[in-house]
Amino acid sequence: MMQSDLQTLIDSEEITFSHIPVLSQEVITGLNIHPGGHYLDLTVGGGGHSRLILEAAEDVKVTAVDQDLDALKAAKDNLSEFGDRVNFIHSNFANYHFPDNTCDGILADLGVSSYHLDNADRGFSFRNTANLDMRMNQQQTLTAGDIINEWDEKELADIFFQYGEERLSRRIARRIVEKRPFQTTTELADAIAYSVPPKYRHGRIHPATRVFQALRIAVNDELKVLETLIEKAPLALVPGGRMVIISFHSLEDRLVKHGLRNSPMLKVLTKKPIIGGEEEISQNVRSRSAKLRIAERVVAV
Ligand SMILES: C[S@@+](CC[C@H](N)C(=O)[O-])C[C@H]1O[C@@H](n2cnc3c(N)ncnc32)[C@H](O)[C@@H]1O
Repeated sequence: MMQSDLQTLIDSEEITFSHIPVLSQEVITGLNIHPGGHYLDLTVGGGGHSRLILEAAEDVKVTAVDQDLDALKAAKDNLSEFGDRVNFIHSNFANYHFPDNTCDGILADLGVSSYHLDNADRGFSFRNTANLDMRMNQQQTLTAGDIINEWDEKELADIFFQYGEERLSRRIARRIVEKRPFQTTTELADAIAYSVPPKYRHGRIHPATRVFQALRIAVNDELKVLETLIEKAPLALVPGGRMVIISFHSLEDRLVKHGLRNSPMLKVLTKKPIIGGEEEISQNVRSRSAKLRIAERVVAV
């Protein structure tokens, strides 16, 4: 094990993962879990959904993937009672070698976990001062700081516009380039706030919100890996096997909607995305923007 992995595991002893899985009943029904089945949880996080899958029927097995070592450690602790019914894999799901025709169901609960957002050190949120990091996989080299401090103005404006749907992308990019280098999340958020008109500065959401979303997507190449996932994963399903994907913003949901619909291996079972009910939303803020879509592997391709 590399020294950095070891340090991460030691450090992560201090931190806790929240285990409130979003749309949990809908995920279990969507996956159509049956005894002895093999399910692939591509985003195991703290293991909340995996636990429900393992408990849903006799002798179910789960392959649990995550690119974040902190998440894998939390999931291992949370799921230890299931012993060798769970196999843990540290990988980006886009690089995972999907086994042909062996899975009864695949789950992807996309994006970052509340652990990532709440854990100041990871640099995902501007609520706390932290280095501009935002890597889900701590072994990756590219950080948000590299993008902000090194990419040229046009590239920055493009990602703010494409990944953050930020109307003031050019103006914000210009200001960032004038004021850089930036070290921390809060320095960057303040500079963004001062680059926009006062009306916008005191609006419903913090003016840095969209830029932070854009940076996170760029650092983790989130749209590209999602495309790869939708292309590769259906092959791993047995005929009749289900794929359930939960997305959290419109760019992802659009990709999921079209990707599932255009796959010759899949039949889409959800005309419209499934969203959380009022009760769930009041208990779990993350579910407010969650959209779940389900598709089934067709028999012949
Ligand atoms: C929303 S959380 C999952 C929470 C989990 N379903 C639970 O119930 O605890 C998303 C997790 O997926 C991981 N993740 C996101 N993108 C990934 C990718 N491309 N490959 C592997 N893991 C990824 C993140 O590190 C994070 O731990």
